[in-house]
Amino acid sequence: MDKYRAGESSVQSAASSVKPNEMQLTDEHPTFSNLNARSTLPTDGDRSAAIEFVLSPTAQPLLETLTQEPLDDRRILALVSRLRRSHPAAIAAELVTQAQLRQRAAKKFRDAGRMFFTAEALEQATAQQPAEHRAAQLDEAAAPGIFLDLGCGIGGDLLALARRRPGVAYERDPQRARRAQANAAALDLAERVTVVQADWTVALAKGALPQAAAAFVDPSRRSEGRRAFSLWAMQPSIGEILKLCRRISLVAIKVMPGVQAAEIPADCCVEFVGHDGVCKEAVLWFGRPRAPKRWASVHCAEGWLQIADEGLPPPVGELAPGMVLYEPDGAVIRAGALGTLCARLNGCLVAPDVAYIAAPRFVKEPLAQAFFIEEVHRFSLKVLNRRLAALGIGQVELLKRGFPQAPELLRSRLRLVAGGRAGAVLFMRRGDEHWMAIGRRLSDRCGERIDG
Ligand SMILES: C[S@@+](CC[C@H](N)C(=O)[O-])C[C@H]1O[C@@H](n2cnc3c(N)ncnc32)[C@H](O)[C@@H]1O
Repeated sequence: MDKYRAGESSVQSAASSVKPNEMQLTDEHPTFSNLNARSTLPTDGDRSAAIEFVLSPTAQPLLETLTQEPLDDRRILALVSRLRRSHPAAIAAELVTQAQLRQRAAKKFRDAGRMFFTAEALEQATAQQPAEHRAAQLDEAAAPGIFLDLGCGIGGDLLALARRRPGVAYERDPQRARRAQANAAALDLAERVTVVQADWTVALAKGALPQAAAAFVDPSRRSEGRRAFSLWAMQPSIGEILKLCRRISLVAIKVMPGVQAAEIPADCCVEFVGHDGVCKEAVLWFGRPRAPKRWASVHCAEGWLQIADEGLPPPVGELAPGMVLYEPDGAVIRAGALGTLCARLNGCLVAPDVAYIAAPRFVKEPLAQAFFIEEVHRFSLKVLNRRLAALGIGQVELLKRGFPQAPELLRSRLRLVAGGRAGAVLFMRRGDEHWMAIGRRLSDRCGERIDG
């Protein structure tokens, strides 16, 4: 059901998002390579020694203190200069880099303040909640035995898996493998994991991979800064990973959320994972015969909620003032579970290929955000401005589905009422026509009502 665009989030690599005067945080240059350009830059040897120092128990009290400090661009030069009075340049840079990455990682990991990262590996790491959700499923579905984490990065998934069972992780990048091991030790999981710095596909070909009850594979989906859109462009490719599926009875493969239906192997089932309001990933599961063919798992206030594609075609109907318009979570859309959700809401899609559900009344639905619709018109900027004024709307949310224009581009052309109330405009395509529904928000992304 790729026709409903689920709004894939764009994850920028740290390297591409830094401004010219900011430090470069990439795996290749994990320290402040352009800080204080007049001083001698640290050599690779200095850097390796600095990294080992920063990973050591000796550095932890200082690193913890630095992580508590405000580390914005304005203060960072002063901080590095201060550190350089007592430490070599490479160590000062590595300390500040790690402290900064820990601050950034707090969004993903509860224990970020004790962990170690590289900028790129942090971007690629699975956040703690989805990692725990997956680890729980693997643990429940697997026979007794250890797990394998193949391509473990800095260990986002590995740590969650290790809390469930002992296992062996492979990572070919030495910087990441070293940090994965350090992270396991920092979180008292060192006894439960072995990190092997090697190419797991080579180990598989040689018959050297350990026997395991289950394997998790998280292939790289970026190469030279470009995002891969095909399972065959991942590293390793799906072809390599399928060889593993012949050896291990339960395998989960994390892939891109926009995985193309035509590329999905016939003998697996697919989970689409929604977290923080975005469909972040899909997981191909091999060896779960009782699981639905396609389902969404969405993280909400209540925990993880599931909804499956039950093969129900979503009905299509009218949208009129007085109705409630629901926008489902992207994972629900990608999982093709719109028919199931329409049945739950007693609603209809507003057009066959537009994932807005119109329903007669509001019900609390954690898998969709809801808007009360006051007016529905064919799209016209003139009409919109007239109606915003008439309705006294002063702040407006702009959403769209199947509408050709980015609605934010319209914002500067809207005439909002000074001191007016909050409203929302949902733009959509219905057949060949463009429409707009004007109203107000009823619930947040988790379905919590925000208006009496
Ligand atoms: C998307 S990242 C993994 C992120 C990890 N799951 C986490 O949550 O931190 C993929 C990792 O696989 C590693 N990798 C890719 N191909 C590999 C191979 N053939 N053998 C070992 N590691 C590999 C890459 O170096 C990269 O660190």
